[in-house]
Amino acid sequence: MNKLAIMGAMQEEIDPLLEFFKDYKTIEYADNKYYEVNYKGLDIVIAHSKIGKVFASLTASTLIQKFSCDTLLFSGVAGAINSKLNIGDLIVATKLCQHDLDITAFGHPNGYVPGGKVFIDSSKELLEVAKKVAKNENLKVIEGVIATGDQFVHSNERKEFIEKTFKADALEMEGASVAVICDALDVPFFILRAISDSANGEANFDFDEFLNSSAKISSNYLVKIVEEV
Ligand code: ADE
Repeated sequence: MNKLAIMGAMQEEIDPLLEFFKDYKTIEYADNKYYEVNYKGLDIVIAHSKIGKVFASLTASTLIQKFSCDTLLFSGVAGAINSKLNIGDLIVATKLCQHDLDITAFGHPNGYVPGGKVFIDSSKELLEVAKKVAKNENLKVIEGVIATGDQFVHSNERKEFIEKTFKADALEMEGASVAVICDALDVPFFILRAISDSANGEANFDFDEFLNSSAKISSNYLVKIVEEV
């Protein structure tokens, strides 16, 4: 690796990282801010994309194509689907899918368009590093499927559809689009999330209450991983 990209969706998801790395240079590009850091000799670029798949795709491809990052780590929060996941728990995606991509009218499976794939795998090597760090730090981290869509999910009905259709463990609004970009550009990546809510009727209240604390849990783990990549 020559240059590492670290992404979040919301400012709240990257604030703890900027506080940790402290000395950064801000570059404005494409209506967004990119923060360049050198940490123990490693060049890192940090950015939050703004919410959703389109902004996340723009930021991921900018980090790779303009800033020349060759590895991408994502840190943020997610809604739980798997009942074993509670608020504050960590999940790293083994693979990701787009739960709202739907041309089933033409006989295709949910999450699929011709030329694409339903699931995109995270980098096995980065998952190994994440597992090793979790073990050393005595952290409980679940590996599972993350489903992404341009919807804040706050109903059991939608949650059950995503669980049944994709066997997903958690959901959020950016991961799979970042995965599509990294897969197409051959850049190893992983998506790390800490649970902020359970994507049910209380999700919007829980999200507001736990966004900052869960973002911090995710970023604390991510900086430990940065030491090892
Ligand atoms: N990110 C965190 N919680 C979420 C939810 N319930 N739906 C979509 N994205 C989320």
